[in-house]
Amino acid sequence: MAVIDRLRIAVSPVHRALEGTALARAMAAGDVSPAAYATLARQTWHLHADVEPQLARAARAWPALEGLVDPSHDRAALLATDLRYLAPDDATPAHPAIIEACARVRVDVEMRPWTAAGPLYVLEGSRLGSAVLLRALAAGWGVPATAGVGLDYHLPPSAGWWASTVRSLEALPLNASQVDDICASASALMHSLWCLYQDLKPADVDAASALRASHAS
Ligand code: HEM
Repeated sequence: MAVIDRLRIAVSPVHRALEGTALARAMAAGDVSPAAYATLARQTWHLHADVEPQLARAARAWPALEGLVDPSHDRAALLATDLRYLAPDDATPAHPAIIEACARVRVDVEMRPWTAAGPLYVLEGSRLGSAVLLRALAAGWGVPATAGVGLDYHLPPSAGWWASTVRSLEALPLNASQVDDICASASALMHSLWCLYQDLKPADVDAASALRASHAS
């Protein structure tokens, strides 16, 4: 079976669970305030800021990854831009689920650099959902779905990027146990993200943002 199919099978149940969380449903319905979205964006920034250098490190340790890991696709800087716009005074530390996810990626990459293909698939694949979320969030906020409104993270990448990511995944010289490692790493990351989404209920997120705003004023 193709690696992409193995990855889809591995992450699909937890992706479905994540899409079913109150936060994901509210976002898909365009029903999450910019302040509440910023709480999630902060955690997503912690994830990207920690994991993206690990992916580059993996490609140095295992050069077969070089065709797949492209630092120009990194999105920590886009999230930082969004956060400067949406929540300039916020410095919330990483959620325990994100700390755990980053620690696991670090250990995986250190011991078995090919596992980086798992988190890379998860982070790049999440752009497929971004197309939906960009439209929904922008419509809910009454802003255009363009750069500079706090949603740069979700802007579409260059045409053909997903087909090229899948081709590079399929070109990796992997044996069966390495494919198992990659799927385990991808599904562990998705599981941590599900824990995060489960914990960040839209109402709590809005209440936390309101509290921060009242302390700031
Ligand atoms: C917040 C709500 C989310 C929504 C509404 C959403 C929606 C979608 C949609 C519409 C697709 C493309 C269609 C499909 O193949 O199922 C997709 C694919 C995907 N999403 Fe999400 N998504 C969400 C969150 C996430 C998150 C947080 C991640 C991980 C960081 C993620 C990872 C993926 C992956 C890896 C794929 C690729 C599946 C494939 O191989 O085709 N998604 N998502």
